[in-house]
Amino acid sequence: MKLHEIPTPALVVDVAAMERNIRRMAAFYAGGPCLVRPHFKAHKTPEIARRQLAAGSCTGLTCATVGEAEVVAAERLTGDILIANEVVGPGKAARVARLAASGADVKVAVDSEAGLDDIARASRAAGAEVGVLVDVGVGLPRCGVAPGEPAVALARRVEATEGVRLRGVMGYEGHVVGIEDRAERMARATKAVERLLSTARMVRDAGLPCEIVSAGGTGTYDITGRMAGVTEIQAGSYVLMDSAYAKLDVPFEQAFSVLGTVLSRPRPDQCASDNGHKACSMDHGNPAVKDIDGAKVLFLSDEHATIALPPESTLAAGDRIELWPSHIDPTINLHDVLYALEGDEVVGVWPIAARGYPEQRAR
Ligand SMILES: Cc1ncc(COP(=O)(O)O)c(C=O)c1O
Repeated sequence: MKLHEIPTPALVVDVAAMERNIRRMAAFYAGGPCLVRPHFKAHKTPEIARRQLAAGSCTGLTCATVGEAEVVAAERLTGDILIANEVVGPGKAARVARLAASGADVKVAVDSEAGLDDIARASRAAGAEVGVLVDVGVGLPRCGVAPGEPAVALARRVEATEGVRLRGVMGYEGHVVGIEDRAERMARATKAVERLLSTARMVRDAGLPCEIVSAGGTGTYDITGRMAGVTEIQAGSYVLMDSAYAKLDVPFEQAFSVLGTVLSRPRPDQCASDNGHKACSMDHGNPAVKDIDGAKVLFLSDEHATIALPPESTLAAGDRIELWPSHIDPTINLHDVLYALEGDEVVGVWPIAARGYPEQRAR
């Protein structure tokens, strides 16, 4: 199959660019001591995770949901799984415990006693042991127990609880990963991650284990990843990139786009194509137009992208047009497969096996 034969809208991956991204990240961490734990949520695609792990410098995979972790285990991508998120409620806790009982070295983030109790109860019932990282709030207003003594108190509680094992701490500095000015990003990431590192020291000073200190994303991989004491970076977007991260000074290439077909050219300065927002997320802003100088997305509707064109453009109904999404994760989550391209040859059709909520399909 050739590029022009792919039914649209569709996601297309430039395999060579993706492989360069994977190699660059692996090379950066090749000397250790910090390693990368690629975030599976970015692409949810086993074929990509296999290539990331095969490139080396990886500890295992990061997941955001239990459903992703189940796919990682079922596809036998790695046994070393971190769910870098709170897993709350007996149903989800039981699923994590089942993964641990089946032999996966699964770790979850915990920031409350209630969450800890759910995991521990399920783990004991399954005769398993689930690893726990205390999730420390380092500035992103989302999850996480306060750094310092409150985090140490929770770590003590984890250590004293049967069915779970304290493995360390995590803290995601997501409020700074997208800052375009490098000096500011560096200063603010350093400040945030120091909160995590000082908490890790306090946990150890209390006589508790803390082998894992997990943080970071694509925007901070070379800042957080060089801070002494951080053991792994949870970067995800770097492998395919998006137009928001492309504004930063990170050395990764945009390796995927949303392919569409021009449906109409009603005016010389405008066209409409079929890659609208059911095919391309816009939570980080409109996508960019690939390879057409001066073209700009005006807006996306359900099934259409309305695009301003330079009047000299010869684009006509039936031609292909590619958009670079502003946010990789939710865009990929809209599709079932990725078309892998070498030049304009389709060399693979990769299932996005963990898209949506895989547990709903398993019912
Ligand atoms: C907990 C956590 N860790 C790491 C990341 C890093 O991802 P990215 O590489 O896309 O910045 C994210 C992204 O949202 C996240 O939620």
